[in-house]
Amino acid sequence: PSNNSPTEGPLGLERGICRAKGGSAGFKVAILGAAGGIGQPLAMLMKMNPLVSVLHLYDVVNTPGVTADISHMDTGAVVRGFLGQQQLEGALTGMDLVIIPAGVPRKPGMTRDDLFNINAGIVKTLCEGIAKCCPKAIVNLISNPVNSTVPIAAEVFKKAGTFDPKRLLGVTMLDVVRANTFVAEVLGLDPREVDVPVVGGHAGVTILPLLSQVKPPCSFTQKEIDYLTDRIQNGGTEVVEAKAGAGSATLSMAYAAVKFADACLRGLRGDAGIVECSYVASHVTELPFFASKVRLGRTGVEEIHALGPLNEYERVGLEKAKKELAASIQKGVSFVNK
Ligand code: NAD
Ligand code: LMR
Repeated sequence: PSNNSPTEGPLGLERGICRAKGGSAGFKVAILGAAGGIGQPLAMLMKMNPLVSVLHLYDVVNTPGVTADISHMDTGAVVRGFLGQQQLEGALTGMDLVIIPAGVPRKPGMTRDDLFNINAGIVKTLCEGIAKCCPKAIVNLISNPVNSTVPIAAEVFKKAGTFDPKRLLGVTMLDVVRANTFVAEVLGLDPREVDVPVVGGHAGVTILPLLSQVKPPCSFTQKEIDYLTDRIQNGGTEVVEAKAGAGSATLSMAYAAVKFADACLRGLRGDAGIVECSYVASHVTELPFFASKVRLGRTGVEEIHALGPLNEYERVGLEKAKKELAASIQKGVSFVNK
C-alpha cells in the first residue's frame, strides 16, 4: 500500500484510530485499472461517494501518483494504492465491491470483440484474484467486450467454486445513460426525467433500447425510432471516432459506472426499489447471460425483470441481438475452458 493503513495516522497510531472509526460505516470498494482513462475519474467520483469508507486503487502502472492525488480530497473515504500483480491480494482482501475497468480500449475501425485477445486474459487474472481474496464481493465488470468478459468471469468463479450469479454484474449503464440523453433530446425533455430500458448486451446490435417502454410514456415516428436505435447502438463508436485514436468513452463511462456502483451500494445497504439495467446470468431468454432490468439488494441481484411487451421492431432486434450474443458468450466460456 502506498499510504497509511486506516488504523495509522501520519504521526502514529493514536489519532489515526479516530479516523478509521469515522469512516467505518461505509463500504470497501476496489477499482482495478484505476490509473486508466475510466479509472481515474471513476476513482475521483467514488472518493466523493459518502457510502464508501475505504477505496483501493489497483493498476499495473501509476497508482502511487493517482492515489496521492485523490487521497488529498477532503471526503470521508480512506484511499490506498496498490501497484502490480504482487499487490493484487492486498487490493482485494476485505472488499465489498470490486469495479473493473482494466484493459485496452478501442481505436477507430475496431469492434469491441477485437479487444478480446488482450482483455480476456486481464479479466481472467483479476477474477482469479477476486475468487481467492474476496469471493463474496459484488463485481461490476466494465472491461470490453462485456458480452464475453462477464462469461469469462463466471467461468473463473465456477472453477474456483465461488460463483454466485447474484454478485456478477456487467456494466451496461452507459447505454442507458446515452439512451436517456438522446431520447430526451428528441422529446425536448430534461434527461433526468427520462428512463429508457436498454436490454441484450453491450456491443452494436446486441444493444437493444426498448423505446416502446420509455418513461414518461411517449410515442415516436418510425424515423425517430431508426435514428435513436442507431445512435444508441453506435454511441461508443461515435466517441471512439471523435477521439481519433486517443481511446474510447472515459468521462461519461466513469459517470455511468459511479451511478451503477452507487445503486449496488444502496442495494447492499438495504434500500428498497433499486432497479437498473445490467448484463447478468439470466433466464429471461434462452441465453445464459442477458442484460435487462434487475432489482439490487443486500445480496446483489435479487430479481431479474422480464422484458415486458415488445413491439415487432423490438422483436426483430431481439432475434439479431441473441444471435450475436450467443457467439460472444460461447467465446468467453471457451477461453477459460480451452
Ligand atoms: P485505458 O487504457 O485508459 O485504461 C486501462 C487501464 O487498465 C490502464 O491504466 C492499464 O494500466 C490498466 N491495466 C491493464 N492491464 C491491467 C491489469 N492486468 N491489471 C490492472 N490494470 C490493468 O482504457 P479505458 O479507456 O479506461 O478503458 C478500459 C476498458 O473499459 C476498455 O476495455 C474499454 O473498452 C472498456 N469500456 C467499457 C465501457 C462499458 O460501457 N462497459 C465503456 C467504456 C470503456
Ligand atoms: C462504449 O460504449 O463507449 C464502450 O464500450 C467503449 C467502446 O469501445 O465503444
